[in-house]
Amino acid sequence: MEFSIKTLAPERARTGCLVLGVYPDGALTRAARLADRAAHGALRSALALGDLTGKPGTTLLLRELPGLAAQRVLLVGLGERRDFGEQPLRDAVRGAANALRELGAKDATVYLGELKAGRRSQAWGLRQLVLGMREAFYRFDQLKTQKKTPAPALAAVTLAQSSGPVTLQAQAALKEALATADGAALARDLGNLPPNICTPSYLAEEAKKLARQYKLGLQVLERRDMEKLGMGALLSVTRGSHQPPKLIVLRYSGAAKSSKPVVLVGKGITFDTGGISLKPAAEMDEMKYDMSGAASVLGALRALAGMKAPVNAIAVVPTCENMPGGGASRPGDVVTTLSGQTVEILNTDAEGRLILCDALSYTERLHPDVVVDVATLTGACVIALGHVASGMFANDQKLADELRAAGEDAWDRVWQMPLWEDYQEQLRSNFADMANIGGRPAGSVTAACFLSRFAKKLRWAHLDVAGTAWKSGREKGSTARPVPLLVRFVLRHAGAK
Ligand code: BES
Ligand code: MN
Ligand code: ZN
Repeated sequence: MEFSIKTLAPERARTGCLVLGVYPDGALTRAARLADRAAHGALRSALALGDLTGKPGTTLLLRELPGLAAQRVLLVGLGERRDFGEQPLRDAVRGAANALRELGAKDATVYLGELKAGRRSQAWGLRQLVLGMREAFYRFDQLKTQKKTPAPALAAVTLAQSSGPVTLQAQAALKEALATADGAALARDLGNLPPNICTPSYLAEEAKKLARQYKLGLQVLERRDMEKLGMGALLSVTRGSHQPPKLIVLRYSGAAKSSKPVVLVGKGITFDTGGISLKPAAEMDEMKYDMSGAASVLGALRALAGMKAPVNAIAVVPTCENMPGGGASRPGDVVTTLSGQTVEILNTDAEGRLILCDALSYTERLHPDVVVDVATLTGACVIALGHVASGMFANDQKLADELRAAGEDAWDRVWQMPLWEDYQEQLRSNFADMANIGGRPAGSVTAACFLSRFAKKLRWAHLDVAGTAWKSGREKGSTARPVPLLVRFVLRHAGAK
């Protein structure tokens, strides 16, 4: 889908569908008012029939109105004018996109980007509009032989404003949003692919494709490299699997060599059976999403490279399967990590922290400015925060504050959780430096505490996205979170805004 920005009088838009916002009780936005005047009050009289409540995201389609160059008019409810903020705008965008998807219109001219959502800038609205539209039009049907619904006709979207010049900020917002949407689409595809296709080797191949397409630096460490380095924790997780493990290091250099990179580490368990500490059968298929952290850091890199952002960023992806088998790790095994610290594996299902701890130690040699890891790490985080906020932990408050602000900016929000010393004692082991589990209380906190022991030399934060990276139920699928957050964070961190 092509996007462009333009200043354009709505009545003159020669388009398959004009998309206009309206408030309840027949109140109109500026663009809707202009169109209504040109159409001799046809919008107001349609609304007077009471077919549109005006609740955020509700829609009403009108055809062949007099006085307009457009073939159709889609009226979109925005909710009460005084309540119009982030969520109503997002709901309106989703409602409009869902309606457009069902139409035969090949192009649309949308006047939702010029509305101010609360105190948000126009650039903010444009980013939400592009990301929301691209999300609504995303389909994953590459594995269906019978495509039930034909592909939507909509090919071009004009983000229109009824007055004023198109600003540089608006153009920049569009460019950033399009690249972010491309990154999110990659993350979605990787998340949705089944575990027999999306293996560690597949992820390494995808990284190779990205490296070729965007001229990125790439290094893929193989099992023997990990053995030489002494990544005993990562190697212990892959032991039950027939798929070879990989450690992917993908580098985007958009800034001066002297500027230290932001390193994004993503958990890449392409399937998590739990290993010998086997998971229950119900919904185990969803553990194909256990590589969502990996998908999000690869997606973020694609976005940054795609928009040619003036930043240096590296994605580090430890990836393997967690399978049972004759060679698999046992509860009770003690392994030596790359840091030299030893870990007693009390539960083989707490595998994410085992691959991440070695990856975090590895990042030291990349001389990072800051390190942010992203992982579907604990079911406990889903219990704590549900599907709204990702859990955030940090050993540096400034970094935590930056991530919180970037999350709010991207509307891909995080909530900070404690990393207090008091929790560390739950990781006590009688036989090694630490255990890999800390019991049921505060499960997401003790998992983060475990990681913190490998991040002592880093300015580091950890995002637990177990509750936010995918949806269950009828709408089952990857959400591509936290790609928007990561992109916004890296840009803001580099001062690129
Ligand atoms: N990948 C899971 C975490 C998870 C669970 C994500 C449910 C999304 C939904 C992780 O590897 C895991 O199994 N964690 C265990 C840790 C426990 C054994 C300490 C968990 O959360 O139950
Ligand atoms: Mn697990
Ligand atoms: Zn896992």
